Amino acid sequence: MQLLSERRRDGRHPAPAGCPADGAPIRLPLRQLRADLLGTQQALVKEHDGFARYQVLRRVFTLVASADANQQMFVLAPRNYRRGRHYDNLALVIGRGLICSEGADWERQRRLAQPAFDRALMARVVEITGALTTELLARWDQAGRRGEQVDLLDDMEELALRVIGMALFSRDMTTDRHTAADGTVTVTANCFTEARRYGAAVVFRRNISPVVLPLWIPGKVNRRFRRALAGVDRFVYEQIDQRLADGGGPDDILGELIRAYGDRAPALRRDLRDQVVTLFFAGFETTAVALAWTWLLLSQHPEAEARFHAELDSVLGGRAPTVEDVKSLRYTNQVIHESLRMYPPVYGMTRKAAADDLIGGHQIRRGDDLVIPIHALHHMAQYWAEPGAFCPERFTAGRLTQAQRSAYLPFSFGKRRCLGATFATVEMLTVLAVAGQRVRLRHDPGCPVVAVPAVTQRPAGGLRMRVEARS
Ligand code: HEM
Repeated sequence: MQLLSERRRDGRHPAPAGCPADGAPIRLPLRQLRADLLGTQQALVKEHDGFARYQVLRRVFTLVASADANQQMFVLAPRNYRRGRHYDNLALVIGRGLICSEGADWERQRRLAQPAFDRALMARVVEITGALTTELLARWDQAGRRGEQVDLLDDMEELALRVIGMALFSRDMTTDRHTAADGTVTVTANCFTEARRYGAAVVFRRNISPVVLPLWIPGKVNRRFRRALAGVDRFVYEQIDQRLADGGGPDDILGELIRAYGDRAPALRRDLRDQVVTLFFAGFETTAVALAWTWLLLSQHPEAEARFHAELDSVLGGRAPTVEDVKSLRYTNQVIHESLRMYPPVYGMTRKAAADDLIGGHQIRRGDDLVIPIHALHHMAQYWAEPGAFCPERFTAGRLTQAQRSAYLPFSFGKRRCLGATFATVEMLTVLAVAGQRVRLRHDPGCPVVAVPAVTQRPAGGLRMRVEARS
């Protein structure tokens, strides 16, 4: 362990592990990170024992991967670890809602939003998700009869988009249409998916560029992004204004938020917009890709799949799940946890050190840009025996060690843990329970699946699978 007392006579600290002897950061070409970000991070974590400083173009990053470091950053001293540049850029898309806010502003927003994520919402999520999954099964049935494959990633994205649209606004955004400023009629879902697509490009450019150019600069990406975001805002403000006029409307998340804001709601339209847009973007692609990976893993592990089927048959016996069944489906919960370990949709996070600190014996300096490589943490041999093996039994109740609990970050950790963690788990569980009673999905082992770290970690080029009826 390197302690603060180990200062050299000249007052400087010895070079931290993870840097060459002169303390200079490891230089990494941008093209290497672009070609294999997850592999590069995993190699750095392995070679430098979970701590490395590296430089890309002119920016230096500190990679921190250990259970102790997570405890320090997210539980013991979270005020020392602020959001930083990536979140400022992300705020251009989702605004200063729960993900991109800090301090008192974040606390106020979380206090207002937390009550909406109660048991009543979870019961609604089971109901909505069950009904929409049954619709999807009817489509899969036809595809199965014609001998066609389905694109599972597309199907899970559409399903998750419909679920979040219903949970937030009580609207099916795939059929809902609204009129844009120039009079063209657009499917609402398309505005959101375009805003995600071009928003991701804008954020990525700004994250790596030494010069930050304003959004009004002409160019295809900026133009399309501005147009899609205008569509999103038009739709969201329309919803907010209608609800303000009728006391909040239905018991969906927007209704609950408006009631929680009370008399202040009309003056805080922008705040409400940022909250719901954040919830939409936080909750849709993440859950969809997590479901796609879970179906793939089940198809590749017949023993786990058989145990999953046996649990569905014994707990549900052919009926639709309710919120009361969520805890009883223990093995299905374990499958979800293990899938999120192997393929965490949010594969990494960044933080900016607001003060000097010492984590895991390594000196952190104020202003350091930290990278928390969640995917690499989930594959570290010191925490996970055979990290590459799919083993839902790891998550049997009471079996995780304290270190494993701190090294497992699919939903982050501490006070800022994902607000939608239960929502996402309940949604995934319902999709698996409803569809898993009727069908099994099969993937051609001759077509390797490559994970790409885009906005989330997703299968490159989609995920073609065959649907087979369970006899
Ligand atoms: C499998 C699905 C999901 C995964 C893997 C996931 C993961 C995460 C992670 C890692 C964070 C921390 C981000 C950071 O600090 O940079 C986060 C935050 C958040 N997530 Fe999720 N999420 C999922 C689903 C959802 C859903 C369904 C919702 C809402 C409906 C949601 C809402 C949020 C919110 C509001 C935050 C910010 C919390 C705060 O800072 O107070 N997420 N999520």
